[in-house]
Amino acid sequence: MTERTLILVKPDGVERGLTGEILRRVEAKGYRIAELKQLNASTEQLAAHYAEHEGKPFYQPLVDFMLSGPVVAAILEGDRVIEGFRSLAGTTEPTTAVPGTIRGDLGRDWGEKVQKNLVHGSDSVESAEREIGIWFA
Ligand code: TYD
Ligand code: MG
Repeated sequence: MTERTLILVKPDGVERGLTGEILRRVEAKGYRIAELKQLNASTEQLAAHYAEHEGKPFYQPLVDFMLSGPVVAAILEGDRVIEGFRSLAGTTEPTTAVPGTIRGDLGRDWGEKVQKNLVHGSDSVESAEREIGIWFA
């Protein structure tokens, strides 16, 4: 069941200096960081990455947020890492994400148009391969 997944530390996480804390949790869980880089996302990358959300009310605020500062992209490897990283991340809304998760412990969404929930993680094998192609072409 060894899989690969694509994760992003979003601009809020990089700006708040939480990249190390997030990657510490990933490594402590036993996942391997196969690739890692910091970059400024392009509009083209974000349009491809968030294609499933195009047209939704949070789409443009989400893209603008993701363009607001650098992101850290990584490929993780491990047994059931796709599901496992999403479990470490917690559910989408930081306010209700369970404590013990990245979003539940560290995320903030009060008064925001878009959830500043620190991380992205691919949600399926197909998404992971597609997203790895976007961020590590
Ligand atoms: P989604 O893929 O549904 O969440 P997840 O990141 O947990 O897989 O949505 C992508 C991002 O869009 C999400 O991380 C934060 C933002 N978003 C909002 O700001 N408001 C919303 O109502 C939703 C559903 C998402
Ligand atoms: Mg998603």
